[in-house]
Amino acid sequence: MTVALPPDAERDVRSRTVAAPASLDVALLGCGTVGSAFAGLAQLEPPDRAVRITHALVRDHGRDRPTLLPDVRRIYDGRSIFATSPDVVVELLGGIEPARTLVLEALHRGIPVVTANKSLLAAHGGELREAATRTATPLLYEAAVIAGVPFLGTFSRRPFAARVTGFTGIVNGTSNYVLTRARNERIGIAPALADAQRLGLAEPNPADDIDGIDAAEKLIVLLQQFAAVNVAPADVETDGIGRITAADIDDARALGGTIKPVIAADWSERLRAFAGPAFLGRRHLLASVDSAENALILEGPRGRMVFRGPGAGPDVTAATVLDDVHEAARATIPVTLPSLRRAQPSAPETPWFIRVTAPRLPRRIEIADLLASHGVYLQRTQRGSAGHAEGCAALTLPCSRPRIERALRALGAAARCDVRLLRALEDGA
Ligand code: HSE
Repeated sequence: MTVALPPDAERDVRSRTVAAPASLDVALLGCGTVGSAFAGLAQLEPPDRAVRITHALVRDHGRDRPTLLPDVRRIYDGRSIFATSPDVVVELLGGIEPARTLVLEALHRGIPVVTANKSLLAAHGGELREAATRTATPLLYEAAVIAGVPFLGTFSRRPFAARVTGFTGIVNGTSNYVLTRARNERIGIAPALADAQRLGLAEPNPADDIDGIDAAEKLIVLLQQFAAVNVAPADVETDGIGRITAADIDDARALGGTIKPVIAADWSERLRAFAGPAFLGRRHLLASVDSAENALILEGPRGRMVFRGPGAGPDVTAATVLDDVHEAARATIPVTLPSLRRAQPSAPETPWFIRVTAPRLPRRIEIADLLASHGVYLQRTQRGSAGHAEGCAALTLPCSRPRIERALRALGAAARCDVRLLRALEDGA
């Protein structure tokens, strides 16, 4: 969809008042799980903070939306939201289009935008930030990453006090919930995922959670925020939890750790990043972050900062979006978002968790020797845990992905074995 701006759009931008109006007229784009929760919550606002949803863009004509008051105008064509001038546009459509076009048009018109759409920010963050800066219009997205623990706004306001050079985190509640249930109750991915969907945690396409796409998008948004770089989703090493088995989880436990869906990035020297399931030693700060909880460890020259709490779910996300609506309307926030430099992260060198299974497993010392001849050194090994006696699990010293893959190809050729490979993170995070 392309949108022609009205001739007076530029003038509207410059003349936008920054005084908070008595009641805020909100155009709501998207009335799915989070949009409906937002509508329900907005109605509970006290009269002196009244948020009035005037228009709601809905995609499914037939669906009942009990949280939308009868006087909210349902619209089916996004451009109609600009017919009356909303004070704030709240974009909860998800996905790229029409969200991108409508958010850009709102920014061009000087209408503050609140969004929770990490896919949009990951793919078009540079363009949206540039439009927000050019028109001096707030663009707030606190709910896009760990919605239940508001921290992005603080960092926007305090860029010098809170300098960051890297982070490690668990930012996808669904995959953390699924792995936690799989570990504690020894159930499969499918029933745990069905429960995550019932709780409203999962994405409309839950493959985005399970395949690590949602986590990688959040990683990119965090890189935009903290490293001022723009990274293409295809350039981030991304893996999902779909292939993790009960045997992997048992052997991780036997090696003194657990498997968690993590993201990690560091730009103290070269930019490095990945998103995927990883072995964490049990003393790692993220190892005890269970169920749908999220956490983020930020590393900086002045030390480490840790944020931990509810990740997503319709109610926490709606509450954070509502706070952003008030913040956007007050316009006390800086509207100049640092412009982004294009960057291509490389994959980091980390220790690795490997799990080898074969009808006739070589002795552990033979496996260690063969891997060492390819420059991969084991720091700990473990015979397969109960029920997986044909297996052997090990943790390596840090090395690159190409190096470990080369060594494992050689092992596979020598011993006809199956290998599971996951990154491992050091205990200190
Ligand atoms: N599906 C996401 C999660 C929702 O499980 O974390 C919040 O982005």
